[in-house]
Amino acid sequence: MGINVISKKKNLKKNTVLLRADFNVPMKKGTIIDDTKIQASLPTIQYLTDKGAKVILVTHVGRPEGKVVPSLKVDPIVKKLSELLGKNVGKLETRNWKLTDKQLGTVVQQIDAMQAGDVMVMENIRFAVSEEQNDIRLAEQLSVLADIFVLDGFAVSHRTAASVTGVAKLLPSFAGLLFEKEIKGLSRVLEKPKAPFVVIMGGVKIETKLPVIQKLLPKVDQVLIGGGIVNTYLWALGYRVGDSVVDKQFKKQALQLLKKKKIVKPVDVVVGTSNGKQYRVVELKKTPHQICKKGEMILDIGPKTVQLYSLYIKSALTLVWNGAMGYFEQKPYDVGTLAIARLVATVSKGPAYGVIGGGETIQAMERVKMLEWVDLVSTGGGAMLEFLSGKKLPGMLVLEK
Ligand code: 3PG
Repeated sequence: MGINVISKKKNLKKNTVLLRADFNVPMKKGTIIDDTKIQASLPTIQYLTDKGAKVILVTHVGRPEGKVVPSLKVDPIVKKLSELLGKNVGKLETRNWKLTDKQLGTVVQQIDAMQAGDVMVMENIRFAVSEEQNDIRLAEQLSVLADIFVLDGFAVSHRTAASVTGVAKLLPSFAGLLFEKEIKGLSRVLEKPKAPFVVIMGGVKIETKLPVIQKLLPKVDQVLIGGGIVNTYLWALGYRVGDSVVDKQFKKQALQLLKKKKIVKPVDVVVGTSNGKQYRVVELKKTPHQICKKGEMILDIGPKTVQLYSLYIKSALTLVWNGAMGYFEQKPYDVGTLAIARLVATVSKGPAYGVIGGGETIQAMERVKMLEWVDLVSTGGGAMLEFLSGKKLPGMLVLEK
């Protein structure tokens, strides 16, 4: 791998490290609902502090678009980090990122007062409008705070931003342990996947899924599809899908790509009302027909589809899964997604090398309590898909040797 990695850097003692993590975790009323992303960066934080470095953490949370959104402040993350690291983690006063030079000087003083092994967190960097504009001034302000920069948030490495790519150009920069692990694991899938190689692709955003399917198609044996891709495909073929979520602008692309033999489609679907009160299984006939009545939507893959997909999953030696099979947040539409989660986990770390990625995919795996059964849990949703579709991630490019 041609990038600089922190695991190879000698002598970190007394270094101040600016560590860009991705702690974009779901929160409700100040409580973190899923701390997977925080847990995932702990080894890097621990590694740096054990080596005697001072660690300044920077992250984004949500999409506040340059405004201060109280529910997106980092305080619950600071609290969680203190619990997980078993020591006091502080918060740096970055004044919601409207820093004058004098105020920046105060931040520098705070950092100077830190001891080796201390950890401090900065406020949500996306409260600064200049973050996503990749503004050089913000990158410069960040760069004066540290000796080196470590990018650990693989999940944000597909973004060009001041705290991701901007500052990396101004300081000696390295990939963190998580970043290194994710790139290695995903490269294994791209470079030497063992056959049968099966990809399971679900979720809603069809625009991010089609390029990955396209790129991986020559290498894979089957792609099993679920979620919004299926709705759009069935609609494009002329099935009547009621109020199902459909992305009409992808009609042509969906028809062209998904008709391919390697793409395995559902043979039945669960349709119903979004509150889960009324639902039924509909078998898909070859000739387009009415699947949903008015007010109904396609909300899950059906039992025969689970059975069909299980045959492919059980025989796979390489597996990649991204995206739910349906509206799994609402019972009974979670059945298909949770069945797929159990199947993927069961063959991973055993006969198959299993990779999963993306927020809802991880949540589904957590619901069946089998996250640790998977070989690689990529914290990146968008980043993982972009990497697998062959794009050079901006966050990787800035770390190249
Ligand atoms: C993610 O959750 O995929 C990352 O944190 C990136 O977030 P973004 O899509 O808001 O840039």
